[in-house]
Amino acid sequence: MSASSSSPLLIVMSLCSLFLAASSDPFYQNFYVTWGGDRAKVSDNGQLLTLSLDNVSGSGFQSKNEYLFAKIDMQIKLVAGNSAGTVTAFYLSSQGQNHDEIDFEFLGNLSGDPYILHTNIFCQGQGNREQQFYLWFDPTADFHNYTILWNYKNILLLVDGITIREFKNLESSNGIPFPHNQAMKVYSSLWNADDWATRGGLVKTNWTLAPFIASYKVFGANGCVQGNSDCYSSNNNSWLWQQLDYATEGQMKWVQDNYMIYNYCKDAKRFPQGFPPECYVKNNK
Ligand SMILES: *[C@@H]1O[C@H](CO)[C@@H](O)[C@H](O)[C@H]1NC(C)=O
Ligand SMILES: *[C@@H]1O[C@H](CO)[C@@H](O)[C@H](O)[C@H]1NC(C)=O
Ligand SMILES: *[C@@H]1O[C@H](CO)[C@@H](O)[C@H](O)[C@H]1NC(C)=O
Ligand SMILES: *[C@@H]1O[C@H](CO)[C@@H](O)[C@H](O)[C@H]1NC(C)=O
Ligand SMILES: *[C@@H]1O[C@H](CO)[C@@H](O)[C@H](O)[C@H]1NC(C)=O
Repeated sequence: MSASSSSPLLIVMSLCSLFLAASSDPFYQNFYVTWGGDRAKVSDNGQLLTLSLDNVSGSGFQSKNEYLFAKIDMQIKLVAGNSAGTVTAFYLSSQGQNHDEIDFEFLGNLSGDPYILHTNIFCQGQGNREQQFYLWFDPTADFHNYTILWNYKNILLLVDGITIREFKNLESSNGIPFPHNQAMKVYSSLWNADDWATRGGLVKTNWTLAPFIASYKVFGANGCVQGNSDCYSSNNNSWLWQQLDYATEGQMKWVQDNYMIYNYCKDAKRFPQGFPPECYVKNNK
C-alpha cells in the first residue's frame, strides 16, 4: 500500500477540488435541467444557460433546493425577433394540492410588438391575481434582472431593481391568504402557448423560425433552504426584512401608472360579486 494513497492531506485536497469544481459552476450548484434534453445548454462554466423551443418540445430547469422565503434574481434575455406564441417563465412554486406560486411569464410577440410581462400569485391553490405590464426597454436586446423577493412581510416583484408589484402579508390582519408555510422551488421554462399567449391566441407560433432561444445568467439563489433555521437570523439576509419605502413605492407607482396594462383588481366584469379582499388595500386598487 503506497503512502500517498492513504495520505489524509491528499484526500482532503481532492475533496476540496471536488467542492471547488461544483461550487465554481453557479448553474449546477443550485439548479438542474428538468426537461427538453439538449434544448437546454449550459456554458461558460455554468454562468450561461440557453433554453430552446422547437416544434417537438420546449425546455426548462429548476432549483435543487426548496426555500421557505427567498430572493431569486434571474438575468434573462428573451427570445428575439418574432417570438409570438412563445412563453418564457420564471416562477416559484410549492408542490401538491393547495399550492402557492409566484409567477413571472413573458409572453412573446411579433417582431417590433411589445412583450407582455404577466404576473400572478397563488395562495393555497387559488390564483386569479393577474397583473400585466409592458416593459420600458426591449427585453430581447440585452439581459435584464428579474427578481422575486418573498419574505414574511410581502412579495415584491422587481425588474432591474424597480418594484413593479407588491403583495403584502395581510393574513393575520385581514385574513387574506399569504404564502408562508409551504416551501417553494424555483422553476424556469420556455414553451409554446400559442393558444393564449399572443393577443389572446390570435397570433400563432411561426415554426419556420424555430428554434426559439432565451438566455439566462446569474444563478445565485438567495434563499432560506427549508430546515435551515439559522438562515432567518443571519445578518447576511437583509432581504428577509425588505419592504417598500417612500422612494421605492414611488418607483412602483411610476411603473404601474405608465406600464401596467391589466390589473385583476380593476376588472369589474370578472368580479361582479365584488373584488377579492386584497383589492381594497392600498397599492392594489
Ligand atoms: C418540425 O420541424 C422540422 C424542421 O423544421 C420538420 O422537419 C418536421 O417535420 C417538423 N415536425 C412536426 C411534427 O411538425
Ligand atoms: C443586473 O444586476 C447585476 C448584478 O447582479 C448588475 O451588474 C447589472 O448592472 C444589472 N443589470 C441591470 C440592467 O440592471
Ligand atoms: C403584442 O402586440 C399587440 C399589438 O401591439 C399588443 O396589443 C399586445 O399587447 C402585444 N403583446 C402580446 C403578448 O400579445
Ligand atoms: C413565417 O416566417 C417565414 C420566415 O420569415 C415567413 O416567410 C412566413 O411568411 C411566416 N409565416 C407566417 C404565417 O407569418
Ligand atoms: C455571511 O456572508 C459572509 C460573506 O459572504 C460569509 O462568509 C458568512 O459565512 C455568511 N454567514 C452566514 C451565517 O451565512
